[in-house]
Amino acid sequence: MDQLVCRHCRAAYPLDEPRWQCDCGSVLDIEFRPVFDLARIRQRKPTLWRYREAIPIRNDASIVSFDEGFTPLVPEDFDGRRVFIKQDQLLPTGSFKDRGASVLVSHLRELGIREVVEDSSGNAGTAIAAYCARAEIGCRIFVPEDTSPAKMSQIQLYGAGLSRIAGTREDTAAAALKAARHTYYASHVWNPFFFQGTKTFAFEVCEQLGWKSPGAVVLPAGNGTLVIGAHIGFNELLDAGIIDKVPAIIAVQAESCAPLHKAFRENRAQIPVIAKRETIAEGIAVAAPVRGGQVIEAVRRSNGDFIVVSDNEIEQALREMGGRGYFIEPTAAVAIAGLKKYLPESDPEGVIVSLVTGHGLKTTHKIRQILEAG
Ligand SMILES: Cc1ncc(COP(=O)(O)O)c(C=O)c1O
Ligand SMILES: [Zn+2]
Repeated sequence: MDQLVCRHCRAAYPLDEPRWQCDCGSVLDIEFRPVFDLARIRQRKPTLWRYREAIPIRNDASIVSFDEGFTPLVPEDFDGRRVFIKQDQLLPTGSFKDRGASVLVSHLRELGIREVVEDSSGNAGTAIAAYCARAEIGCRIFVPEDTSPAKMSQIQLYGAGLSRIAGTREDTAAAALKAARHTYYASHVWNPFFFQGTKTFAFEVCEQLGWKSPGAVVLPAGNGTLVIGAHIGFNELLDAGIIDKVPAIIAVQAESCAPLHKAFRENRAQIPVIAKRETIAEGIAVAAPVRGGQVIEAVRRSNGDFIVVSDNEIEQALREMGGRGYFIEPTAAVAIAGLKKYLPESDPEGVIVSLVTGHGLKTTHKIRQILEAG
């Protein structure tokens, strides 16, 4: 049966109830049986909605889309090894978050919700703002005060309200949670419909590889919305008998803010409270990830691993990608830096996929600073 289920107390709720949290306070997951009809999928437009029967939106009329998705999977050679880099910076607002926003805002439209709040380091808020604009849903986005000017400009140009919050990313989340007492919370972290969008990354990768699973995927992890989505997506394809194994998920964190890596290495049940330091990867510095345990479980179940990369390594990866003709944001260089670190220890026969999660045009001021510092 299609339903929302609490990760903590297993309470179940109908999928069409406008809620983003269990009564016990915990996060919710979605139980839903996806259908994959490969012949039909092949005939459809190259967008993430080609997997229509695998996405839990009831009516086609609810779909909010810019024909996003099916981003190129481009081969690149790193240290003599051929890998595939998915180009999610080419999605409509310039980051992979559009996958989640398209499905979550479609769900909002299906429920008839007219007003939402969301908080983000920038990219998720930008994506929610754009899709809400398309759906004519009012929204207010809470961001940390020092968010990239381009991301704030995107949010405002899309017509959303913008609240800049002093302090940490966690202070921003607290401000949004307060607003969520009165207005529906379209959170990319709390709301399980967001992962029903990020999971299409897995569908597209497998289809682009001829309906085969890669051996490993190297993904960034802050709140882990892509890691969780990929875990759901690859496992749905496995359960449907379309692929015969799931890839190892190699999750990459910035060294200056790596609570998930620490919990994974130390085999801890709880995510440790860490003091986060400055990093050039603004989008990934999440000290207290709400779904931390779920992210670690996804990595562990895939026989994957966590990797940390320093700001120096992130900067090198950013410059190397630039030299190859890719203008990416420093946060997106985290995954590429992790990929470079992972390659020497990877199975030489395995197909490896990573991605560019965000466009460089979102952070030109930071890239300028990096270049001017030499
Ligand atoms: C460009 C970019 N890459 C990666 C991430 C990390 O995503 P998540 O926090 O969902 O793990 C973010 C998050 O905002 C981002 O903006
Ligand atoms: Zn519960």
